[in-house]
Amino acid sequence: MKGIVLAGGSGTRLHPATLSINKQLLPVYDKPMIYYPVSVLMLAGIRDILIISSPEHLGNYQRLFGTGEQFGLTFSYAVQPRPEGLAQAFIIGRDFVGADDVALILGDNLFFGAGMGEMLERAAARKAGATVFAAYHVENPQAYGVVTLDRAGRPLRLVEKPSEPESTWAVTGLYFYDNQVLDIAADVKPSPRGELEITSVNEAYLERGQLHVERMSRGYAWLDTGTHDSLLEASEFVRTIQHRQGLQVACLEEIAYLQGFIGREQLVARGELFAKTNYGQNLLRLAREHDAAPPA
Ligand code: G1P
Repeated sequence: MKGIVLAGGSGTRLHPATLSINKQLLPVYDKPMIYYPVSVLMLAGIRDILIISSPEHLGNYQRLFGTGEQFGLTFSYAVQPRPEGLAQAFIIGRDFVGADDVALILGDNLFFGAGMGEMLERAAARKAGATVFAAYHVENPQAYGVVTLDRAGRPLRLVEKPSEPESTWAVTGLYFYDNQVLDIAADVKPSPRGELEITSVNEAYLERGQLHVERMSRGYAWLDTGTHDSLLEASEFVRTIQHRQGLQVACLEEIAYLQGFIGREQLVARGELFAKTNYGQNLLRLAREHDAAPPA
């Protein structure tokens, strides 16, 4: 399975912070925002990742991640000339996806919760159709794609940014698709706001009876980073968890090591590179702990 991170957009709600840098590179506490969605793809077992961004900003991602070998991953890069909708990711990424299944995650979506890894692996293992993740009870469903579910949790309707939402289940920015998505996305027509909506792609799966909705109930945190306040709140959330547990959230080398994507030597080399930070110390500690009790 392939993975795509869409890190475009103009970040106008974060101006002037995003005049010269794009939003997904801003820090959420101690690491660039894009680390968080990349960590989600890694937890799903995905190692082949395409990063899509605007022409002015793509170079920053190439400098940040390079080939991806430090995480045992392979990164590719592609330009989205203009922000014309999420479904465009599959038009831009068509050759990259090839004959595979693909997961798409938005570069500004942060997820946190126990059991995340198992839920992702389940979605990745599903052979046909699409899986979306619905977050329980958001305050402002008008800002999102919203899904109405029946009593058994099956999707009945999807609406993008409804003015009068009939449900409080918001569709988060994480999507798993089989290969049909390439042709479905190619057929999507622009919405009234001029975008190729991911909701249109999901509706096509719904019509085929192939849309699966995983519910993220209250045990999960789905964090928004769209405004200065929500960005700061996300940083505070990560800081609180990390301080309380003494563990890192979205530490890519740690996940790579635990997933078996990199070995101990690489883990230690990265830890030494960042030795002045808690991030680096966490990697060195992990190596020491695993010397005492190596992973099975
Ligand atoms: C997009 C999608 C929307 C989804 C949201 C999640 O909204 O169109 O369906 O709920 O991402 O972050 P946008 O970022 O375009 O406002």
